[in-house]
Amino acid sequence: MEKTLVILKPDALQRRLIGKIISRFEEKGLQIVALKLLKMTEELAKRNYVQHEGRVFYEPLIRFMTSGPVVVCVLKGKEAVETARKMAGFTFGTKAEPGTIRGDYALSDRFNLIHVSDSIEAAQKEISIFFKEKELLEYEAVDYPWVYDVSQGVVV
Ligand code: CMP
Repeated sequence: MEKTLVILKPDALQRRLIGKIISRFEEKGLQIVALKLLKMTEELAKRNYVQHEGRVFYEPLIRFMTSGPVVVCVLKGKEAVETARKMAGFTFGTKAEPGTIRGDYALSDRFNLIHVSDSIEAAQKEISIFFKEKELLEYEAVDYPWVYDVSQGVVV
């Protein structure tokens, strides 16, 4: 099963939207396998956003991401990377479709509440920035046989 990294940004915390946003992923059926509240250091923010270095929005983005606590979590599930990306919606709040997290709660290009890994490779890299391997918990989700049809030995 795929794993993806989700960061609930400082605006999500300040706007008290953490519970609502995490609930959406839980209700979808994705499993939370790691979760923590932390104040991002400049080093962590720069490692996570290294691909944007040099772009006009890069420095303000680093300032924003280090401006207050964030929640980082790892979600696991079938096609978790693509699924979480779709649920987050388009980067800019005004352009994100209603029904997505940004589409329902954000208006800003920068204060867009959530970061989600954009590929399987990015997810592996980003997860390793925030979590040690042993912090990713393996545990049985009791609803697993109802979230997926596993009755024929494959996950459908
Ligand atoms: P995220 O999905 O975390 O990836 C990079 C972040 O940079 C993005 O969300 C926004 O918070 C921010 N960002 C991207 N493009 C712009 C932009 N044009 N102006 C301001 N902020 C941006």
